[in-house]
Amino acid sequence: MKIAVVGTGYVGLVTGTCLAETGNNVICVDINEAKVKKMQEGQVPIYEPGLDLLFHRNIEQGRLHFTTNLAEAIEEAQIIFMALPTPPGGDGAADLSYILGAAKDISKIIKEYKIIVNKSTVPVGTADKVRAVFTENTAIEVDVVSNPEFLREGVAVEDFMKPDRVVLGTKSERAKKLMTELYGPYVRQGNPILFMDERSSELTKYAANSFLATKITFMNEVANLCELVGADVDAVRRGIGSDDRIGKRFLFPGIGYGGSCFPKDVQALVKAADENTYDFQILKSVMEVNERQKTILVDKVLKYYKNDIAGKHFALWGLAFKPETDDIREAPALYIIDALVKAGATVTVFDPEGMPNVKGVIGDKVKYAENQYDALENADALLIATEWSVFRNPDFDKIESTLKNKVIFDGRNLYDLDKMIDLGYYYNSIGRKLVD
Ligand code: UDX
Repeated sequence: MKIAVVGTGYVGLVTGTCLAETGNNVICVDINEAKVKKMQEGQVPIYEPGLDLLFHRNIEQGRLHFTTNLAEAIEEAQIIFMALPTPPGGDGAADLSYILGAAKDISKIIKEYKIIVNKSTVPVGTADKVRAVFTENTAIEVDVVSNPEFLREGVAVEDFMKPDRVVLGTKSERAKKLMTELYGPYVRQGNPILFMDERSSELTKYAANSFLATKITFMNEVANLCELVGADVDAVRRGIGSDDRIGKRFLFPGIGYGGSCFPKDVQALVKAADENTYDFQILKSVMEVNERQKTILVDKVLKYYKNDIAGKHFALWGLAFKPETDDIREAPALYIIDALVKAGATVTVFDPEGMPNVKGVIGDKVKYAENQYDALENADALLIATEWSVFRNPDFDKIESTLKNKVIFDGRNLYDLDKMIDLGYYYNSIGRKLVD
């Protein structure tokens, strides 16, 4: 099939590349000339495991193309995916200007029937708004389909190639037929393609992310309580997760959820509810608790140093909002750095992929280490903010000989408590007994 993807951000690029992988001819279009030039020269603009291989293979095989020319991109496309940003506007509601702007541009160029697929996370009712743009500007028939993405950064290629489900919001039989054909190769194992109306499809995305954010936040609160009552959140997590109705996944407490989706989507759903005079109380609490959780590690540090960390130096392992990504949007590590520096401390950081992005945002506010052990030099304590695999089984001899004191504040519960007792550390983690 012939496909156009408008927007080559994280979602657009993964979508375009993975659609090419099953034999479709894909043209990705973006207004950023420098980025398009790089991609035409074979450079992948983001770090995402497994994407490189598919990206190069499909370019070489002539199935994946990049352009800045919208008309060229959509001319032959049967299906046009829109994967454009929907940042929160000033009032917390998603800003639809990119989507509606692109819809307008497309509506003025098309010469024959197209399926317009909305891949971006958009408020309920957006498909209707996009359709209205087409009705206003062209007599040519289009079908507007809502097709939310459920890609997790770090495993996005796998999620696209073998999705748990594909959600498609459309009532058009013609669109259903083509979309079923397009997604068929990805659901061969039997996972469902779920057809529904556009509004339900749009809400599904927000509800899914908000539910997951709530699940994490619930566990964060259980963890905080565990510390107060002397329970171990790891045991509680296993205890409740074995119940199928709860499930083992997404129960890991930490320093608050971050990333480009959860914070934005929870906020947008609360806003949408408010606009419809519904007070979505549980999500308001989720937002509030998550804000608090982001500084929980700093609170522990401050308590340990009796509220005086002026002149102290800290090593921070992990900047990305989660492992296997260079994405630092809404990363708890940034809040931690901010709080430490405000209190007069200095920080040296290490992250396997996130350092260039952090440098771009906060520059010389911190020092950047070459590797995880260099980061420990002259540090009074080590803080851990992201559960990268390289931090899971470090050389504790090296840590001991480099770190000034054997003090670790772990926001991701990476180490076994007995081991830390044996090694003689002060070890403060989330929802578990304090080792001191
Ligand atoms: C998420 C959704 O999972 C995906 O389906 C959606 O389409 C986009 O948003 P992503 O933002 O890549 O994906 O990250 P995810 O793996 O879901 O993690 C989100 C946040 O929750 C991270 O900050 C992570 O550290 C945190 N988290 C996750 C926990 O604190 N505990 C957990 O048990 C799981």
